[in-house]
Amino acid sequence: MSKSAKLHFNGSEYDIPVVKGTENEIALDISNLRSQSGLITLDKGFKNTGSTKSAITFLNGEEGVLRYRGYSIENLSSKSNFLEVSYLLIYGELPTTEILDSFAKEISSHTLVHEDVKSILDGFPSRAHPMGVLSSLVSSLTAFYPKSLDPNRSAEEINGTIIRLIAKLPTLAAWSYKNRMRQPVMYPNNNLNYTGNFLHMMFGLPTSESQIDPIIAKALDKLLILHADHEQNCSASTVRIVGSSHASLYASVSAGIAALWGPLHGGANQAVIEMLEDIKDQGGDINKFINKAKDKKDPFRLMGFGHRVYKNFDPRAKIIKQAADDVLGQLGINDPVLDIAMKLEDVALNDDYFKSRGLYPNVDFYSGIIYRALGIPTDMFTVMFALGRLPGWIAQWKEMRENNEPIGRPRQVYVGNNHREYIDISKR
Ligand code: CMC
Repeated sequence: MSKSAKLHFNGSEYDIPVVKGTENEIALDISNLRSQSGLITLDKGFKNTGSTKSAITFLNGEEGVLRYRGYSIENLSSKSNFLEVSYLLIYGELPTTEILDSFAKEISSHTLVHEDVKSILDGFPSRAHPMGVLSSLVSSLTAFYPKSLDPNRSAEEINGTIIRLIAKLPTLAAWSYKNRMRQPVMYPNNNLNYTGNFLHMMFGLPTSESQIDPIIAKALDKLLILHADHEQNCSASTVRIVGSSHASLYASVSAGIAALWGPLHGGANQAVIEMLEDIKDQGGDINKFINKAKDKKDPFRLMGFGHRVYKNFDPRAKIIKQAADDVLGQLGINDPVLDIAMKLEDVALNDDYFKSRGLYPNVDFYSGIIYRALGIPTDMFTVMFALGRLPGWIAQWKEMRENNEPIGRPRQVYVGNNHREYIDISKR
């Protein structure tokens, strides 16, 4: 393979180095293009731009492959658990039993948050969306751990922040729900595992491991694993770019939560259920919504369909669809919204508009159905996504800092007015 590509422009020829990844992905390294030729590249939405070299997650959208640190999500979601996957993403290797035990122990000893966080929480109106509350509370942790403001401290201190974030996010997430319900907050129960403790802080139960329904525990753990990382997506890129200014990990993750919130990203799981309920309430006419989605004059989109990188299928959706079937079957739930989802999927998958654009159900199409079955309220769905995505954000931030990446600062092609003289207000 050639080591470089040639660019011809204005009578000159430029060599652009070609970079190759471990899975044979190839890229043009254009970092010196402007100084050589005066040209920059233009790529709205970064559809064809690599922002970094990363060793965390491999994704092949054409073949539906997703691997964390080389391990397939099919393997991890059936054989591992969320804390082990978190360790793998953040530190790069699968832990031994002793290492995983001490990681879990350390996390469970940091689940409490400072009592003053409660007064911040009390300041939010109960109608506040839990994602906004969560993002604010994560940012507020900088006030309780001011040393974390300096991301250039020792690896040990940075690791303290990493452990605190993993430990406290379920507490803050459950508390944002309690604020929504205007119920008193529940304190963590460190005798429970990670997901059990979260359910306890949300619903008061379980209070012991034996009360955790294994079906619920497995489904939740699987969902968290499937959401744990997804390479350079909108929120991960946000975390990296905020962190690239040497902002703290708490501030960077808080920004990541805000980026995830939007309905085109993590907020799609809430939007899917709202759309399905809307279809049901309007009499279940699926074709009407399919036609709306196809109408270019109508901004409506089929939520839970399509993905920037998956153009054949989303491997996460395949696993989650099976998990949704299992959970609903085992819990004996007959959800009319699920029937609508199945019919909608069937119609869309056979429609030329969706087929020709590679629009398939994505991870968020089914995750909401499971969350509903588990009794998690709709506006907490994206918070669940954030809980799952946290180790990915941490791993992306840590990699970016360890590689000492420069501040993220894209260029632009200016298309505004040329120079104009200021006109006094009396003469306009
Ligand atoms: N319904 C109808 N048409 C769609 C949809 C949809 N859900 N998604 C894309 N299209 C059309 C779009 O109108 C465009 O058509 P045309 O070529 O005729 O102009 C074409 O498909 C390409 O769309 P795009 O917006 O250029 O694609 P993108 O890569 O910029 O957007 C997306 C990807 C996920 C934002 C988009 O598919 C979408 O809005 N989907 C619905 C929201 C959703 O489910 N998001 C969750 C993504 S999975 C969770 C995560 O990882 O964040």
